[in-house]
Amino acid sequence: MTARPKVIVTRRLPAQVEAALRGRFSVELSADDRPTDADTLQRALGAADGLLATVTDKLTAEVLAAYPIRARIIANFGVGYDNIDLGAAQAHEITVTNTPDVLTDCTADLAMTLILMTLRRAGEGERELRSGRWSGWRPTHMMGTRVTGKVLGLVGMGRIARAVAHRAHHGFGMRILCYDPSPPSPVELAGVEAEPRATLEALLAESDVVSLHCPSTPATRGMMNAARLAQMKPGAFLINTARGDVIDDSAVISALASGQLAGAGLDVFRGEPNIDRRYADLENVVLLPHLGSATRETREAMGFRAIENLAAFFEGRPVPDRVV
Ligand code: DGY
Repeated sequence: MTARPKVIVTRRLPAQVEAALRGRFSVELSADDRPTDADTLQRALGAADGLLATVTDKLTAEVLAAYPIRARIIANFGVGYDNIDLGAAQAHEITVTNTPDVLTDCTADLAMTLILMTLRRAGEGERELRSGRWSGWRPTHMMGTRVTGKVLGLVGMGRIARAVAHRAHHGFGMRILCYDPSPPSPVELAGVEAEPRATLEALLAESDVVSLHCPSTPATRGMMNAARLAQMKPGAFLINTARGDVIDDSAVISALASGQLAGAGLDVFRGEPNIDRRYADLENVVLLPHLGSATRETREAMGFRAIENLAAFFEGRPVPDRVV
C-alpha cells in the first residue's frame, strides 16, 4: 500500500471538512488556529506534499524560496489567491488551486447586506439603540437613502458581481452599470440586467452606489484613491467586498468625513485584522470582519472543493480549480 499524501492545513476548518481530510490524507490539522508566519509556512512547505492554505497565509516569493520544498500543491481555501505569489509558485512547479462558485451566492448576499445597511444607516441605528440613546420614533429620525431605483455600479463583473446584479436588479429595483477591463462573455452576461461602461471613470460618474468586485492585482491596488473618489457623484456610496488594498484608506476616510462619500460598507481591509482605526470614529461607515463567504454551508463547500482539488492532484486527475 502506498503512503497517503501528507497535507498540512493552516487553519481550523468546519468539523465535517476536517473529518473528510483525515479520511483521505495523512493530515496535520491546525492546533491553535492562529495566522501563520513565514517560518511556519516554510516548515510546512518542506514537510508536506500539499498545503491547504487560506487568505491569512502570505505565501510570498520569499516564503516560497524555502529550501527544500516538498509541497507540490497549495490548495487555497477561497476564491481569491492574492496571498500567493503565483510567479514564484510556478517557478517552483507548485500547483495552486482556489474554490470558485461555491461562495458566489453568500458573498453576493453580503454585498447586498452592506448596500442595505449603509444606505439605510442600520449600523448607526443599532449602535444608537444598544447604547440607550434612542429617544423614540419621529419623522426626521435617522433618515437614510432609498435603495429602489438607485444606480449600482459594479467594478469587476465576475461571478460574484453578476450575482449581486441579479439580486440588486430583480430584488431591489436598482439599475445596474458595470465595468470590467476583461468583460465576461456574452454567455456569462446573458440574463444579467447590466449596462456595460467602457471606462471606470464613466461608471463612477453615473453611479449612486459603487460596489467593488475586482481581484487585488498590481493594476487595482489603491485604485479607489482621492482622484477616483472625486470622480464619483457627490454623496455616493462605496461598498467593498473584494480586497482591502483596492482602496486608499486615507482617501476614503477623508471623503467620508467631508460628506463627499455619503457612506461606505466595508468587509475587507488592508492589513487585516489591524484596520485603520480612524474608520471606527465615523458613523457613516459599516464595518464587517471579512464575512463574505462566512456561512456554514459555504465554508463546508469551500473545504470540500479544496479537498477535491488535492485529491485530483494526488490521483493524477485533471485538477478542477487550477490557477497555475
Ligand atoms: C475569498 O474567497 O477570496 C475570501 O475573501 C476568503 O479568502
